[in-house]
Amino acid sequence: MSRRAVMTGAFSYTGSTVARQLVDRGWTVHTLTNRTKPPGAEHITTAPFLFDEVHLRKELANADVFINTYWIRLPWKGQTFETAVERSKMLFRVARAVNVSRVVHVSVSNAADGRNLGYYRGKADVEEALRDSGLSYGIVRPTLIVGPNDVLTNNIAWFLRHFPFFPIPDAGDYRIQPITLEDTGRIILDAVENSNDVEVDAAGKTVMTFREYVCLLARACGVRRPVFGVPACLSLSALRVMDFILGDIILTKEELLGLKQELLLSHESPRGEESVEEWLMAHGDSLGRSYINDIHRHFGEGSSVPVLNPTDSRQ
Ligand SMILES: NC(=O)c1ccc[n+]([C@@H]2O[C@H](COP(=O)([O-])OP(=O)(O)OC[C@H]3O[C@@H](n4cnc5c(N)ncnc54)[C@H](OP(=O)(O)O)[C@@H]3O)[C@@H](O)[C@H]2O)c1
Repeated sequence: MSRRAVMTGAFSYTGSTVARQLVDRGWTVHTLTNRTKPPGAEHITTAPFLFDEVHLRKELANADVFINTYWIRLPWKGQTFETAVERSKMLFRVARAVNVSRVVHVSVSNAADGRNLGYYRGKADVEEALRDSGLSYGIVRPTLIVGPNDVLTNNIAWFLRHFPFFPIPDAGDYRIQPITLEDTGRIILDAVENSNDVEVDAAGKTVMTFREYVCLLARACGVRRPVFGVPACLSLSALRVMDFILGDIILTKEELLGLKQELLLSHESPRGEESVEEWLMAHGDSLGRSYINDIHRHFGEGSSVPVLNPTDSRQ
């Protein structure tokens, strides 16, 4: 009999790849989402993503695994990181109550080391809650996930295409260790199919500075732009002006601090197998062609539209 996975966000960014790889490995997939089902995904059953314990008990019942990708990028419209922590704990509590065999949770690299920042502190609290839950668990901690329709990478490419230069906060000499979306999905699937409690980073093979990443993106997009350092306070002020023009939050002060603290760098042997550089060079032509508004994607009309289609072949 086919194994049943219940997951959040099968039509969102990371979740879509996880859903496709689950199906490829013979799992049936049921997803909690408020997005519409894309064409071809009829084999994936859906239920509204509501934080209501009675509803969640019904939807998580009979799951062999529950995969949690839920998180918020930033506090917005009354939702805070504390809200996201409480909601994540509710998901785990329900999973325990209905005897889900295993929970795999997608966290972030260096969650515990970033406790001075709300996003990371919340992630560390959720990791702790899962460890203490008594559930069989896997925790996967990605660094920066590179794939189609990703907000950060696409929007850097958009800026590179549309402006004659790229000012980078504080010289951009802080290191990151990006990983492809496909590799991230595989690492999550490995945690799903592992029966031990596991905690692993999902990081790519190459460590580079943020400035090198921007320069790599410029090459991938086929544009030549001067990339130069400016004081962080100046770049954040310029970003707030662009936020106003674009109706979005491009990069928060906390996100920049996370980058500067090198929280998107792993201290484990890399599990990524694909080359991020090769992925970017192969897909550069499509990156940054239009701006992706993250607020619209999660809070506006875009919040009901699929981000990626899990039936698209590998991304
Ligand atoms: N993307 C990266 O580079 C990266 C790096 C490190 C860690 N991560 C972690 O990986 C996980 C997946 O990230 P992702 O980039 O794939 O994010 P995503 O596409 O935004 O999906 C995240 C999940 O959270 C839900 N969600 C997001 N914002 C929400 C909101 N405001 N209210 C209610 N639900 C919301 C989404 O629901 P819908 O299905 O309805 O959209 C989806 O189930 C997250 O835990 C994230 O912290 C991501």
